[in-house]
Amino acid sequence: MKVAMLTGGGDCPGLNAVLRAIVRKGQNDYGDELVGFLDGWRGVLEGETMPLDVEALRGTLPRGGTIIGSSRTNPYKVDGGPEQVRTSLEAAGVDALIAIGGEDTLGVAQRLTADGLAKVVGVPKTIDNDLSATELTFGFDTAVQICVDAIDRLHTTAESHDRVLVVEVMGRHAGHIALWSGIAGGATMVLIPERPFDIDEVCNALRHRHENRSRYASIVVVSEGATPSDAGVLTTQNSELDAFGHVRLGGIGDALAREIEQRTGYESRAVVLGHVQRGGTPTAFDRVLSTRFGVAAIDAVHDGAFGQMVALRAGEIVRVPLEEATGELKLVSDDLYDVARIFFG
Ligand code: F6P
Repeated sequence: MKVAMLTGGGDCPGLNAVLRAIVRKGQNDYGDELVGFLDGWRGVLEGETMPLDVEALRGTLPRGGTIIGSSRTNPYKVDGGPEQVRTSLEAAGVDALIAIGGEDTLGVAQRLTADGLAKVVGVPKTIDNDLSATELTFGFDTAVQICVDAIDRLHTTAESHDRVLVVEVMGRHAGHIALWSGIAGGATMVLIPERPFDIDEVCNALRHRHENRSRYASIVVVSEGATPSDAGVLTTQNSELDAFGHVRLGGIGDALAREIEQRTGYESRAVVLGHVQRGGTPTAFDRVLSTRFGVAAIDAVHDGAFGQMVALRAGEIVRVPLEEATGELKLVSDDLYDVARIFFG
């Protein structure tokens, strides 16, 4: 078979490991010809491919990013885009496509499948870990580890200066990165999109903590999508939208640090971890998960399991309908939030 791959949406550690696994098994076990479309759906629309073989993927297991590029192109936002996808796949002689992406990229894969325009298998990627139907996406573990490394470092400087350090992390509308890194990093408080926060409560918790000790410091982890329950308190929203209609988040950390300092008098600073969370080498866990997903994806192609996504459930790699994975976002569970809350204040 001729099997194509694409990586779409925000990049994330482990993408190359998925490509490498698909190519290794596809070429060696199935005798496939493998190609990558460049820059996600953009490369499909414009018919831009590069050949991928075992040699081309050599040395990429520990490498962050994606060697075939990524973009947030949405074929359903381009005139005649979906039809163009079909034409382009036919022109390239592609029998099947493996789409490696998050909610948006896989949402397109799902629609193309439903519209009968492409034979696609999905692989769940995103540092945000917000895809339903899989317990984990690859890239999440690495992002959390990067945040925890930063928080560990911030503890010592916060303590030396008796400051409040507000750490803004990614995650869009799901608080997984914030909650996991807050628990692992021993944060004083974790603010997530799922739970609008009361700024008075945040300040009271900080006062309680600082006033009962002679010298103290606090780390507040805030997810970029967290919002105050009183909408008028902090304004951070940017109105710019991407091709999938997402607003560009960011700014809550700075706004929150300013507000905390003003209300409590404690010197406060914001640290925005930003794209550092997506860069660099994947953790061992993500390398293994990516490799397992890649192998399962090429197997799914050969089983004709189109319209399906490979997923992690109870430690096993399974197949689930793309529809189930992209229907609604997976948010932080109440159980995990309650664990984090025990350590607030
Ligand atoms: O979806 C991954 C993610 O890193 C989000 O956490 C974040 O909101 C967004 O992408 C940032 O996108 P961009 O790289 O386009 O600024």
